[in-house]
Amino acid sequence: MKSFLVGILIFCMSQVSFAGEGMWLPMLLKSLNEAEMQQMGMKLTAEDIYSVNKGSLKDAIVHFGGFCTSELISPNGLLLTNHHCGYGQIQSHSSLENNYLKNGFWAKSHQDELPNEGLTATFISEIIDVTSEVLDGVSEGLSVSERQSVIDKNINKVVEGMEKKAYQDVYVRPFFHGNQFFAFKTITYRDVRLVGAPPESIGKFGADTDNWVWPRHTGDFSLFRIYAGPDNLPADYSPDNKPYKPKHYLPISLDGVEEGDFTMVFGFPGRTQEYLPSPAIEQIVNTLNPAKIGIREKALGILDKYMRTDEETRIKYASKFARVANYWKKWIGESKGLKRTKGIAKKQAFEKSFMDALPPNSKYKNILPTFEKLYAEMEPLAYVRDYYSEVTGRNIEVMRVISIAQRLVDTYDNNGEDGYNAFKQRVIPFLDNFYKNYDANIDAEVFEALTEMYVENVDSKYVPKSLMGLVDEDTKLDNGRSPDLFSKTVMADRTRMMAVLEMTPDAAIRSLKRDPAYRFGKEWKELFDSEVAARLSTIQFQIDSLQRVYMDAQMKTFPNRTFYPDANSTMRVTYGKVAGYEPVDAVLYQPVTYLDGVIEKYKPGDYEFDVDDKLLELYETKNYGQYADTNGKVPVCFIGTNHTTGGNSGSPAIDAHGNLIGLNFDRAWEGTMSDYNYDASICRNIMVDIRYVLFIVDKYAGAGHLIDEMTLLHPKK
Ligand code: ARG
Ligand code: ASP
Repeated sequence: MKSFLVGILIFCMSQVSFAGEGMWLPMLLKSLNEAEMQQMGMKLTAEDIYSVNKGSLKDAIVHFGGFCTSELISPNGLLLTNHHCGYGQIQSHSSLENNYLKNGFWAKSHQDELPNEGLTATFISEIIDVTSEVLDGVSEGLSVSERQSVIDKNINKVVEGMEKKAYQDVYVRPFFHGNQFFAFKTITYRDVRLVGAPPESIGKFGADTDNWVWPRHTGDFSLFRIYAGPDNLPADYSPDNKPYKPKHYLPISLDGVEEGDFTMVFGFPGRTQEYLPSPAIEQIVNTLNPAKIGIREKALGILDKYMRTDEETRIKYASKFARVANYWKKWIGESKGLKRTKGIAKKQAFEKSFMDALPPNSKYKNILPTFEKLYAEMEPLAYVRDYYSEVTGRNIEVMRVISIAQRLVDTYDNNGEDGYNAFKQRVIPFLDNFYKNYDANIDAEVFEALTEMYVENVDSKYVPKSLMGLVDEDTKLDNGRSPDLFSKTVMADRTRMMAVLEMTPDAAIRSLKRDPAYRFGKEWKELFDSEVAARLSTIQFQIDSLQRVYMDAQMKTFPNRTFYPDANSTMRVTYGKVAGYEPVDAVLYQPVTYLDGVIEKYKPGDYEFDVDDKLLELYETKNYGQYADTNGKVPVCFIGTNHTTGGNSGSPAIDAHGNLIGLNFDRAWEGTMSDYNYDASICRNIMVDIRYVLFIVDKYAGAGHLIDEMTLLHPKK
């Protein structure tokens, strides 16, 4: 019986991946997906979604700042994305007096829209298969590094030889772990202004408690506008720039969704690893995730304590806290989900079927045993890497200044005064921003707690001597180690650090080199580089090239299965259906939430679950206008089986006809392991219902002029 079940499982896995799974390249939809999509209810053709010759859905999809997705929803360049994607911008325009995080922001006219230095909006003009050009001259006999160098040269040739307009850029990315290559022609706009954002009590309702959670009640959206030069082409910020005129923008459906409706999510998913071997998954679940989760838990506890008692600290730390908390929680869900859906056993079963399918003397026979060996060798090093990067790169903030100081010194030593001065010019604005949101007392406490964990949990050969001294039992209680370091270094204090940068270059360098934090950071980094990084990268290199062979081998061994490439921040389409799920035995989740649920969660005065008077009043008076569902309630969020990941935030959810119905912003916690092992039974993406967005813009914010820009439709009627 057991082997019969495994047989069924393998049968399913080696067939076409089931609806929901997959992040597909838009120009391949015609050959791979169109039929299935139409069978699931889609009324569009692949050409309506992606076309090079005429305006298509893809022309409304915009890579937002390179880290999120956004979409055009009006003929005047109005751009919709998540509140958490625009968070950095909203925060940077905020202060205690003008607190847009707390109160929201709504530009009354184009003149009031706020510019954001450095924020970009990128369109994809065309996607081109360049595999044969990139692999030209690559043969089996080449060593890994020879292979890479041929590929690098070929990519340069492709990029340089590509026919393009002056305002276009080209990049080439590897797919299927280096088995295929595609070039992307892009156009990047540089003047993107903030138009509107709800208060956090709506845009971040439920904050970290509800993050990754279904049922959800967050209005996670914000509005921006792309501005262009006189020719509608990219231009640096200028008050004379005009709203961008798009080739296509998404019409909006007011008809909402029902369980089973077709949905499609179009965006820029960041990174997935669906084809890893089982030892990699075991390492993540058993070793790496627990380490990273523990460190973040510690740091977050300290930040939370200060943020709860002081509003100014809360503003300063809100964005940083959210970033750290986000993946902390995701990893917990991911590990749980992998266990619950037996992710490791599934991989192993697949691996068995793979081995069984290989002919007796296949050259692929040793792939899996070699992985086993490499992952075992890598494990202790990967553990230190994650510890080191979480502690120094993520959670102790002053480490960022230390690493800048190291780069200033290196630049001075290698490129002299000119190099130093040029780099310093770039560093100053960064530091300005850093110190604006920095509290040295909090950081000192984080430092103390995390270095202690490092010393306790990491093999002593990877612990720098000065850290041993710093957390030495004898000195620990007496002279308090981190406050000591923090008072001696210039780097935890804006005035002192800036004063050093004011000095002549050689005096500044001398002073940095003497600084105790600088010396400490340098020692730690050198130890890490020599004992961990170098060996790790050798193994990683072997793993990566084996992964390429394994990917190719899987595709050749199961020619009837349709494979999709792992996410790599390039444009993808995923499609599925609106569907609830069973989070635990005997509990069934419905796929839609309503404003009533916001009121149920409401906790007056709470920083995560407060609801403001205006929204309460709209609820009480049932002033919903055209935004209520047929049941008379205002929908807030819904879920579907679309396969999404980080970077898909802000992606449009599109109905069978190509209309906007929602805004993707999260996944349900139980299914966050979709990055390694999508499972249609519990993997759900979470979207804000577009009618909630419109309701907030119109009824709550009174920004009806924005609604007037949009095209609202009733496709179901
Ligand atoms: N979990 C979502 C994503 O990965 C939303 C994160 C932002 N919200 C938060 N509370 N941290 O990005
Ligand atoms: N919240 C994620 C993002 O910001 C989306 C996800 O991981 O599902 O891209």
